[in-house]
Amino acid sequence: MRIGILTAGGDCPGLNAAIRAVVRCATRDGVDVLGIRNGYLGLFENDVLPLTRATVIGILPRGGTILGTSRFNPMKDENSLSTFLENWRTHRLDGLIVVGGEGSLSAARDLWHKHQLPLVAIPKTIDNDICGTDFTFGFDTAVSIVTDAIDRLHSTAESHHRVMVVEVMGRHTGWIAAYGGIAGGADVVLVPEHPFRITRVCDLLGNRKKDGRAFSIVVVAEDAHPHPDEPFLSEDQCNVLYRHNRLGGIGEALGAEIERCTGIQTRVTKLGYVQRGGSPTAYDRILATRFGLKAYEMVRAGHWGEMAALRGNRIASVPIADAVGELKRLDEEIYRIAEVFFG
Ligand code: F6P
Repeated sequence: MRIGILTAGGDCPGLNAAIRAVVRCATRDGVDVLGIRNGYLGLFENDVLPLTRATVIGILPRGGTILGTSRFNPMKDENSLSTFLENWRTHRLDGLIVVGGEGSLSAARDLWHKHQLPLVAIPKTIDNDICGTDFTFGFDTAVSIVTDAIDRLHSTAESHHRVMVVEVMGRHTGWIAAYGGIAGGADVVLVPEHPFRITRVCDLLGNRKKDGRAFSIVVVAEDAHPHPDEPFLSEDQCNVLYRHNRLGGIGEALGAEIERCTGIQTRVTKLGYVQRGGSPTAYDRILATRFGLKAYEMVRAGHWGEMAALRGNRIASVPIADAVGELKRLDEEIYRIAEVFFG
């Protein structure tokens, strides 16, 4: 048997742990593994490498992906698809493991449904926005980084009696903001799922100051929007801040508005790609390893079109089709917990 593995979409900590798990199981069984470089692009460009036990030594704690990644979609046009399928045949692949986020998993679903390519999937993303699985690996590491940053910002905010706005990633969901905000003790958390009223934010911060707490931490998710009843961004600003493939910048605009309305000195930190880099936490290493083992088991059993998933404490499999198409929005209960500590 000969299987391929690729990592596609934005990288995240834990990808190497998943690759290692697949390779270790496969080599134990005498199954060949072909690493496909840079996501689906590697099969289009014929950029592949054999993965052996030796090639995965020491990669468990490493961030990023030894295979590289890209957002290339093999179904973007006829030519890409036919070259992709031709190279699949050349390499005589009996199956493929796609490690990806929402976009890459949608492509995997179509390759299985429309072209019957035998593949299985492993969900990954720092955003934790994939349906069908309680958590994705990468998320825990990102939350730890955000928590550490908030801890550090607390001391300087307190010394200077400032408001610190921390902008975090998460794409169209507020998982990272809410978890990071709860763990870091944020005074306000703004998420895409709940458009925010700037007057409420400023009231909360103003009241803290009146109560003798002159510093505050505001966590804002990159896709958090002002409530339409209280807009403070121009159309041009919105076009720049909320580009689907390039979110980011709401923190600066929010910080300026807070300072203007409250008169409290405000500083902004955009955590950006720091959240995606570096070594995975123990939790993410273990989750990625469990997903890798499950994916390999699904390949051996011929459970094509399925995705490894965490359900409670158990690893299960769900149809890839159930995991894509819709994003997993922030759990309302988690938002309510964050909200208890506002102000
Ligand atoms: O999906 C992961 C993520 O890091 C998002 O949180 C962020 O909006 C996006 O990727 C950034 O993508 P890119 O690497 O294409 O700039």
